[in-house]
Parts: sequence; C-alpha cells; structure tokens
Amino acid sequence: MLAPTAPLVLGIESSCDETGFGIVRGIELLANAVASSMEEHVRFGGVIPEIAARAHLEEFTPTLQQALDTAGVTLDDLDAIAVTSGPGLAGALMVGVAGAKALALATGKPLYGINHLVAHVGVGVLDGVRATEPPAGSGTRPAGVVLSPELTGLPEHLGALLVSGGHTEILRVDRLTSDVTLLGSTIDDAAGEAYDKVARLLGAGYPGGPVIDRLAQEGDPKAFRFPRGLSAPKFVGTAEEPGRHRHDWSFSGLKTAVARCVEQFEAAGVPDTEIPTADIAASFQEAVADVITAKAVRACSEHGITHLMLGGGVAANSRLRSLLAERCEAAGIGLTVPPVRLCTDNGAMVAALGAQLVADGIAPSGLDFAADPGQPVERISLPA
Ligand code: KG4
Ligand code: ZN
Repeated sequence: MLAPTAPLVLGIESSCDETGFGIVRGIELLANAVASSMEEHVRFGGVIPEIAARAHLEEFTPTLQQALDTAGVTLDDLDAIAVTSGPGLAGALMVGVAGAKALALATGKPLYGINHLVAHVGVGVLDGVRATEPPAGSGTRPAGVVLSPELTGLPEHLGALLVSGGHTEILRVDRLTSDVTLLGSTIDDAAGEAYDKVARLLGAGYPGGPVIDRLAQEGDPKAFRFPRGLSAPKFVGTAEEPGRHRHDWSFSGLKTAVARCVEQFEAAGVPDTEIPTADIAASFQEAVADVITAKAVRACSEHGITHLMLGGGVAANSRLRSLLAERCEAAGIGLTVPPVRLCTDNGAMVAALGAQLVADGIAPSGLDFAADPGQPVERISLPA
C-alpha cells in the first residue's frame, strides 16, 4: 500500500484544447478533472489556438475546484504544483503557466514547469495503469501486455510511442525524471492531424479520428495502396548505417494521396454519394497504422527497448492498437496501453510526473520560467 507521506501534487495541463487538473498522492490517482473546448473548434475543423486559450481561462477555476472536491483536499494540503510548460500552443500554455504561478505564489507551494510529452509517459507510474484492459478490437489480451496489478513502477528499457493531434514521437525513457531521448518524430503533420484533414476531405466531420475509425470498419483496407511516408531506403538506410529519417514519420504525402484519390473520382463524374469513402478511410487508416507501428517497433528493437507505452488521443484507434499489439508481441516487446482518458491530454499525467520529480529530489522551477512552446523532450522539468 501507499505511504501516507507520498507527495500530494496538483498537475495542470493546458497545452492544447483540454484544460486538465489532476491530483495524485505519489502513484495514487485522486482526481482527474478535464474540460475540453473541442466543441468550439468543430466548425473550423481543427484547434484554433486563440479559442483554446480563452477556454482555458474560463475553465481554469471551475475545473480546479472540481479536482479539489473529488480528491477531498485543499490547496493548503498540497506538497507541490506541476504545470505543463511545453511543448504546445503558446497562448494555451501561457494560461496554465500563469494560473499555476498565481496558485504557487498565493500558497507558497513549490512549482514545477514540466514537459508535456514526458508527462504522457509519467501517467504509466500510476497505480493500476499497467494492469489495464486489452487493446480494443484485439479480442484477447495480447501476450505482451502486463497484467500484474502489483506492478506500478515503470518497466526497465522503456520506450513511449505518443500519437495525437499534436504529436507523433517515439521516446526512449532511461529515467523518467532525468533521462529521456527522442528517437524519432513526424517531420510534418501529426498523425491525429492527418486524420482530421482526411476526415474533412471525405466530408466526414471533426474530430477526424473517431469518424474515420468508424467508417473504416465498413471498408476494405486493401482497396487503395496509400504511401507510407519516409519508408524508402534513402530515408531509412540500414541498422548499421541509418538514413536521416530512419525512425521519423511524415503524413503530408499520405494526406495528398488521399486528396488526389478523391479528386480522381470527382473528375470522372462520380457523384459524391458514390465515392467509396469507407474503402478510402480503411486504406488510409491501414497506411497510418502500418507505418507508425513498423517504425516504432524497429526503433524499439534497435535501441534495446523491451517495453513500450502508448499515449495520445490516437491511442484510441482500433487498428493502431491491434496492429501494435500484434507487432510488439512478434518482436518480444511488452506493451502498455493506458485507459483512453489517461492517454488523451489530462492533468493527472502532469501530477504523476510532478510527484516523481518531488520523490527524486529534483529542484522546483521557481516562478521565473516562461512557457516554452518548443520545449525539447530532454528538458523534463525546467531548472530554477
Ligand atoms: O491527445 P489528444 O486528445 O489531443 C492532442 O491532440 O494533443 O488527441 C486528439 C487527436 C485528434 O486528432 C483525434 O482525431 C485523434 O486524437 N483521435 C483518433 C481517435 N480518437 C481520437 N484518431 C484515430 N482514431 C481514433 N479512434
Ligand atoms: Zn498530448
């Protein structure tokens, strides 16, 4: 069981369109309150930074109060406050950082400005996260998924695959609080962004991920062969002589290929209602899941990673989950897929990483730091 002295930490997340407040005591999750401005972005087909920032401002106090009420604690009880300082949308981050500083100043609590990507991994330390349900659509629990409810620490030789509307990255995590390396990332659109753009092309709505995922169930994933970006030998190279983009992704060519495909049907006079959108969606989804999982598993194998954690909103994708489980199992890599509410942006992951920083004796960031929209992954928490 948990020591009652484990640090009680409030985590604040505002890097994109979710205003999240989480409270943890050590590795125990006490509250995870999230308000999303997603509805307000629907008519634009993507997140509008200014709208997201204003929504954070409106949601800050009520969502904080909700988290405190759920956890049954007050601000005075806290041992520390952690806030996402980057990467993310500048205006959105600034609201969270300014609010966190105000709380820290008013209460005298130490404040940590922390890395959003590493926080996605930090959620994995929470009690029970690694004993979660099998990936949806896989039928049975894949052999590589950790089952034991006693396992709460992070596994050794850990990697993290983060896939959302804002990021597509593969990380190696040697130590959560001090040693994280970026192995590869997208060089253009994030995977979720590609989903959103393709959904718009198909007139399927926003956010694109869930609609395309649903549409794809009725289509043939082999109907069209869409490109797998940065998979040509000149980019990939060999294990001995890696190409420049061996572990990187690119989704802009795929998005263009889908657009050309739709245009060809239109040019041929095919009415909109007869364009095979389900086949296009399924083939697009197959290309995304194929290239993400193939590159992630290769990066793991070549960097000694034996356990992979999946994070980000696209972790909800049925095909990504099943194909990743299949390929990790074949490569002898264990896989953790946290529940979707902890995969998408939330404050609990920020609090979880904050508590690990406190426990490891890392110095807080003070009150002088600024939001850093391009914060590199190696910068896990900001120095004072
Ligand atoms: O992590 P998240 O909530 O926010 C950030 O972007 O940081 O992720 C949202 C993204 C959106 O692009 C959405 O289309 C995508 O996750 N998404 C999905 C699915 N559910 C949500 N993408 C593919 N398949 C899904 N089932
Ligand atoms: Zn995120």
